[in-house]
Amino acid sequence: MESRIPSHIAIIMDGNGRWAEKRGLPRTLGHKEGADVLRKIITYAGRIGVKYLTVYAFSTENWKRSKEEVDTLMFLFKTYLKNEEKNIMKNNVRFLVSGRKDGVRSSLLEAIEKLEDKSKDNTGLILNIAFNYGGRAEIIDAVNSILKLGIENIDEEKFSKYMYNDIPDPELLIRTSGEFRISNFLLWQIAYSEIYITDALWPDFDEKELDKAIQSYNERDRRFGGVKNA
Ligand code: FPP
Repeated sequence: MESRIPSHIAIIMDGNGRWAEKRGLPRTLGHKEGADVLRKIITYAGRIGVKYLTVYAFSTENWKRSKEEVDTLMFLFKTYLKNEEKNIMKNNVRFLVSGRKDGVRSSLLEAIEKLEDKSKDNTGLILNIAFNYGGRAEIIDAVNSILKLGIENIDEEKFSKYMYNDIPDPELLIRTSGEFRISNFLLWQIAYSEIYITDALWPDFDEKELDKAIQSYNERDRRFGGVKNA
């Protein structure tokens, strides 16, 4: 059977901490491993024709973790920006970030803006990193932007334009590490997404696991609230 590749895949990359703890390693090493897996998945997703990839790298709730863990996640993102710029440009990837700016160091914000700007005309995979992101915060921020502009008539299509990035909704949402939760991710955008949950911890996720998720998506019967063959 020919496989349809979802145009937009969103991933909750969960299980880094457990992966490390199982090996008697510090949680921070799980995140480092997770960042390496993310690099591989970005390349593979682009190669198989995924157009948009949104990944949950740091939530508005993650500030509650230890200073060491928060610092590691900030450091990994900064290192990613520095080391991957060349690859992003070579592979024609457009880099975007979705999230709030408050609390994020200005040097990191500057690096994000620089890469968003540099890659803005790239026409390959659109990589959207959810960083300092919360789904409720995104909806509230959209409402506030709309109020500020004094717009009175709003519908779903117009509302979507005020999300952090105006990109199509994901067809497929993947969560690793076997948890059946949304954890405040893309609350507006996943209204009709197919959800795939795997027991694999994020550092163990690979190209084959992504293929399995896409295969499962292909077996779904998407009706969007309608009736089959109506
Ligand atoms: C959830 O695992 C994962 C995170 C909170 C962070 C995800 C970040 C990465 C994969 C690295 C991102 C890197 C870049 C370059 C953007 P968890 O720590 O909640 O795992 P646990 O549930 O097993 O404790």
